[in-house]
Amino acid sequence: MNDILLDVSDVHVTYQKGRHSFEAVKGVSFLLHNKETIGIVGESGSGKSTLAKAIMALQPCSEGSILFKGEDISSFKSAELLKYRQNVQMVFQDATGSLNPRMTINAMLDEVLSVHGKCKENKKGRILELLDLVGLPSAILNRYPRELSGGQCQRASIARALALDPCVLVADEPVSALDVSVQARILNILRELRERLQLSVILIAHDLAVVRNVCDKVAVMQNGLFEDFDDAEKVFSSPKSDYTKRLLAAVPDVNRALARFYPA
Ligand SMILES: Nc1ncnc2c1ncn2[C@@H]1O[C@H](COP(=O)(O)OP(=O)(O)O)[C@@H](O)[C@H]1O
Ligand SMILES: [Mg+2]
Repeated sequence: MNDILLDVSDVHVTYQKGRHSFEAVKGVSFLLHNKETIGIVGESGSGKSTLAKAIMALQPCSEGSILFKGEDISSFKSAELLKYRQNVQMVFQDATGSLNPRMTINAMLDEVLSVHGKCKENKKGRILELLDLVGLPSAILNRYPRELSGGQCQRASIARALALDPCVLVADEPVSALDVSVQARILNILRELRERLQLSVILIAHDLAVVRNVCDKVAVMQNGLFEDFDDAEKVFSSPKSDYTKRLLAAVPDVNRALARFYPA
C-alpha cells in the first residue's frame, strides 16, 4: 500500500519584490507518510514558514513540486484546493492573533463547520467533542479569544484545525509563544491527537528540544536547505552536519544546570 501523503520534491520558493528576488527555500525534498510526525527545526529566517506556506498552497513553488496523494497541488482549481485545505490544516505560532477577536470560541467552531457543510445534524455535539479532544472545558465556549490564556487560545486553534477531520496537521511553531510548562502540555496534546486521530504532523520549531520527544523524523533547516534529515534518534545521536552539531551543543543540559545550583 502506498501510504505517502505528501511528496515534497526539490522545492524552491522565491519571493519577488520589484526587481529584487530572494530565494527563501532552495531545494527541499521529503516524504510524509501516513501517521508520521516530522519535525522541522531551524533558526529564525531559515525558511521554515515559507516551506509551510508552500505546503499549504499559500505560496507557489518556483521550482520543484508538492504532491498530495500523488496529485500536484499546483494544479488544484478552487474546489480541489478547498478539499485539499480540509485535508491539510495549519496551526500558527500566534494563536491569539490567528483567532477572530470578534468571535466567541463557539461561533468560530460553528462557522468552520457551517462553511464546509459539516455535522449539520449535531453541530453542538461535534463542537463539544472538539473541545474535549484538546482538553478545553465547555465553559469557555462563550468566551472571546482575549478572555483566554495563551495556552487555551492555542488549544482552541488546534480544535479549529481539527474540525474538518484533516489527515495532515502543519503546526508552525505552535508552542514558541508559550511558557515552558504550557509548551509541554500543548506538545502532549499534539502527541495524543496523533495517536487518537491517526494524524500525520509536520511540527515546526526553532528549538530542537521541542521536537525531540514528539517526532519520528527530524529535519534541520538552515538557509533554505535541509542540513540534516533522518530518523529523530539518528539526528540526535549522530548528526551529519556541523550546523546540527552546534545546535545540539547549544541545547541546555538541564541536569548540568541543576547541578550548578544544587551541587551533590
Ligand atoms: N513575504 C515575504 N517577502 C519577502 N521575503 C520574505 C517574505 N516572507 C519571508 N521572507 C524572507 O524569507 C526568509 C525565510 O523566512 P521564513 O520562512 O519566515 O523563516 P522562518 O519561518 O524559518 O523564520 C527570511 O529571510 C525572510 O525575511
Ligand atoms: Mg517562521
